[in-house]
Amino acid sequence: MSQLFQPPAAFAKTAHIKSLAEYEKLHKFSVENPEAFWSEQAEKCFWMKKWNKVVEYSCPDAKWFVGGKTNLCAHAVDAQVKAGFGDKVALVWEGEPMPEGKPEIKKLTYSQLLVEVSKLGNVLKAKGVKKGDVVTIYMPMTLDIVVAMLACARIGAVHSVIFGGFSASAIRDRIEDCKSKLVITTDGGWRRGKVVPLKTNVDEGIAEGAAKDLVKTVLVYERIGGDCATYAAGRDEKVAPLLAAASAECAPEEMDSEDLAFILYTSGSTGKPKGIMHSVGGYMVHTTMTAKLTFDLKPEDPSEMYWCTADVGWITGHSYVVYGMLPNRVPCLIYEGAPDAPAQDRFWDIIARHKVSKFYTAPTAIRTFMKWGEELVTKHDLSSLKVLGTVGEPINPEAWLWYHRVIGGNNCPIVDTWWQTETGGHMLTPLPGATPTDPGSCTRPMLGIDMAVVDEAGKEVPQGEAGILVVRKPWPSMLRGVYGNRERFIETYWTKVPGLYTAGDGAKIDENGNFWILGRIDDIILVAGHNVGTAEVESSLVAHPRCAEAAVVGFPHDIKGNGIAAFCILRGAYPQGAEAEALKKELVAHVSKQLGPTCRPDKLFITEALPKTRSGKIMRRLLRDVAVGKDITQDTSTLDDVAALHKLAAAAKQG
Ligand code: PRX
Repeated sequence: MSQLFQPPAAFAKTAHIKSLAEYEKLHKFSVENPEAFWSEQAEKCFWMKKWNKVVEYSCPDAKWFVGGKTNLCAHAVDAQVKAGFGDKVALVWEGEPMPEGKPEIKKLTYSQLLVEVSKLGNVLKAKGVKKGDVVTIYMPMTLDIVVAMLACARIGAVHSVIFGGFSASAIRDRIEDCKSKLVITTDGGWRRGKVVPLKTNVDEGIAEGAAKDLVKTVLVYERIGGDCATYAAGRDEKVAPLLAAASAECAPEEMDSEDLAFILYTSGSTGKPKGIMHSVGGYMVHTTMTAKLTFDLKPEDPSEMYWCTADVGWITGHSYVVYGMLPNRVPCLIYEGAPDAPAQDRFWDIIARHKVSKFYTAPTAIRTFMKWGEELVTKHDLSSLKVLGTVGEPINPEAWLWYHRVIGGNNCPIVDTWWQTETGGHMLTPLPGATPTDPGSCTRPMLGIDMAVVDEAGKEVPQGEAGILVVRKPWPSMLRGVYGNRERFIETYWTKVPGLYTAGDGAKIDENGNFWILGRIDDIILVAGHNVGTAEVESSLVAHPRCAEAAVVGFPHDIKGNGIAAFCILRGAYPQGAEAEALKKELVAHVSKQLGPTCRPDKLFITEALPKTRSGKIMRRLLRDVAVGKDITQDTSTLDDVAALHKLAAAAKQG
């Protein structure tokens, strides 16, 4: 059932795109004339030499801005200084610890950032890093991680950032896959009042296997100091003394538009991580444009302050903390730590103190905040907020409405942005001044993006029916491949529907033309011949006042082919015995009533935790084993809390 929210009139009036009609006109033009459209966008970016062809495409290989030369760091930093904005604040950082109730805050202007990246660029060069070499970055959320990425981009090195929450074995696998010889890390980082020993993890990661011989140099930033890290002679070095001695002049390397910019590993739901490759020019143009339009960024407005809570180690951080944000000249906030350190209102405290205007976070975080209670929010003044964003998984309408009302004060458009590590930038999203939003829908394709919902033959499915989400035309920031594995690239993205990019998600389009993501195709459950989207059943459960979070999976069922198993985290107290049984029945009946008997869960488990990746995605493949009482023998290396999973599995076995 649609429940449309119009963009607030006052907001729409001054927005970059002001109405649905304007969006529709622009979108039509952009997909009918992609070369003209993207060339106009590219003109707004920094180039050392102009391209001679906008796009060359031979499915699945695209080249964008062919012949063009540029540099991602020069576009993000130098170009802003040259345009006279050297003194403008580019990045604001807040540390997690609050000694005497006050956090440490640091700021970097574009000019200061230019000095920092140039110095580190020179240090890397002195260590023998050359254009095309892969540098591994494993760091906490500090300003240094941004500098490290930009310094690589500046000298033409390819970075592979590993999320700071990953373990030693994840570091080893990734280093070995991309054959990286140099690692940049930090002695440690703060997370929920504790020190995360990052350097020790690197040491363990490269202590054995091929990584041991590969890595010749480890450069270490100090965040904690003291004896947090140990240093291996001949291999490890503190960065600070090297930076102090380095020159602040480092010319940006001239990069071909199609040169490899970075590799970012994505775990996927099965198998070993894939090294997703992105190239320089297309990624630059797409992320710069989408950051501006999706968040309606206004560099000339002094009240702008943007905060994305994603770690820089994920694609969201790459695109919408670093590469897409900096060229838009709106100050970007980076927070080091956890949302509940020292208390569960830290985020709202940060928004109020820094007067954040644009806020971007994940549905899993929003559901956690709902559980923590709205009193923690309402005691802070959040009136600076203008746009709210979400990313990473489908947002259930209940959480959307809470975000809109409690965080946004009923006055902030919500941009529910659908995209992937592979797409590099936003693909489906409302534009805050133009698109009427419908809670739970990521609405329409971005300008220049041609998307559809089709069957396996590539034919569009009728309105309202579930199908495969595809991108029909190449786009600038599309992945250029899976590092070292051409077959996996073709097999994963280009064979399900011949000739079209398949994202791996199921979706449907409603009567208003809005897209609804139904979850991963592998998660769609065929129940008695009907496609049931896990996201729909989860949304329904969370709409019940007693359910805070839910995960739904299929399991083999004698009669229906597949049955539905639901796992629910409760809001409030956990009942026992007969009371718990009554609540389970009530939740099952609630789904059946809301969605019809096909979607009725056959099994329902009440649990205190769900198995999630470190980026907050529920690992349904593990829950499928739990649902049928199987022992967990699958790979759990990217799981956040293994103990919670085993507890859940034991409880499920007992029924
Ligand atoms: O299933 C979709 C889900 O996250 C997947 C991409 O994950 P990743 O590469 O880690 O990138 C996350 C940040 C861009 C997608 O295939 N997803 C992402 N955003 C949404 C979403 N599902 C529904 N709605 C979204 N807004």
